[in-house]
Amino acid sequence: MAKTKIGIIGVGGIAQGAHIPAFAKHEDVEILAVCDTREDVLNKVADEVGAKYRFTDYNDLLKIDEIDAVDVCTPNFMHVEPTVSALMSGKHVIVEKPIALNAEEGRAMVEASKKSGKQLMVAYCWRWNPGARALKRFVEAGDMGDIYYAKVQAMRRRGIPGWGVFTQKDKQGGGPLIDIGCHLLDLTLWLMGHPKPVSVSGLTYAKFGHRSDILGLMGQWDYKNFTVEDFAVGLIRFENGASLTIESSFAANIEKNILNSSLMGTEGGCQLDPLKIFREENKTLIDLTPTFLPTVKWHDEEIVEFIDAIRNNTPVPVPGEEGLMVTSIIDAIYKSAEEGKEVSLV
Ligand SMILES: NC(=O)c1ccc[n+]([C@@H]2O[C@H](COP(=O)([O-])OP(=O)(O)OC[C@H]3O[C@@H](n4cnc5c(N)ncnc54)[C@H](O)[C@@H]3O)[C@@H](O)[C@H]2O)c1
Repeated sequence: MAKTKIGIIGVGGIAQGAHIPAFAKHEDVEILAVCDTREDVLNKVADEVGAKYRFTDYNDLLKIDEIDAVDVCTPNFMHVEPTVSALMSGKHVIVEKPIALNAEEGRAMVEASKKSGKQLMVAYCWRWNPGARALKRFVEAGDMGDIYYAKVQAMRRRGIPGWGVFTQKDKQGGGPLIDIGCHLLDLTLWLMGHPKPVSVSGLTYAKFGHRSDILGLMGQWDYKNFTVEDFAVGLIRFENGASLTIESSFAANIEKNILNSSLMGTEGGCQLDPLKIFREENKTLIDLTPTFLPTVKWHDEEIVEFIDAIRNNTPVPVPGEEGLMVTSIIDAIYKSAEEGKEVSLV
């Protein structure tokens, strides 16, 4: 079988740090073309990977028939256009998380995938976390029983990003909830088996981002133009009676950063960090702690499974619909926060 030819749109941080190394080490893949609006970045990356084509306009990249799949690694506001155009020009797409700025854009991307018959995957790399994989095996074996509650935390104590567009609502779609909360929310929905969300209640706060007296442990952001929340909290109700709460911050007065997902089920409970399973066996309360987990490069595995799926015409591991569900919930948390009331998703 011929090599799968890839075109990458947006070759900044995540492309250089994770996707390109994963494609480069895959023996069935060739990075044929790269695109970035910044010529310095484009030329550096194109030279490094030995790409046959380089472009500053992604529409030119999409004209190349040889390209089988496109990797969209641009900022959130620039996901929908290249993704829809790539799908409609007959190419599979892997797009960075979140799927887009909002659910309306996400729906257009899923529709384009259906219309074109080309696959759309969202790069939710936390699903390849070895601890999460272990928890998924226990859930699938029935060891949690009926999962009726989940708690998602993506909390930074002082972690407002000091680079990129992370503090600009128009380009990013929101603050910590859409940037880091989305990863843990996706992971938790996957662990729960994607129950259908029916209603959402949320609140958002901006208590630190506007201030000049706050420590910038992830660089200095522009506090005069901070337009996102720095903390969000949400409660999601599912059709099967289960519920989920999510907390996500860029800054908060808490002891330490937390990136965690916890599940409560009728036969067992579990948490990702530190990884533990809680059960009652023989009238004894037991905590299980794995003593071995394989070391896995998440992004490498993510790319391997994407390539496998498009080469073998099997479903991609994170289909666009699942990325859309995450973004629909996030949209509803923001809407509920604005309106001060619960929002229906049905
Ligand atoms: N999976 C993860 O853990 C993870 C980590 C970081 C970022 N991300 C996601 O990756 C995406 C990019 O983030 P980043 O940190 O790499 O940002 P970045 O700013 O480092 O890189 C984005 C690149 O896209 C380029 N670009 C912008 N508009 C373009 C256009 N119209 N055409 C071509 N290129 C264009 C920029 O010049 C830049 O080089 C975001 O959606 C972000 O949420 C995911």
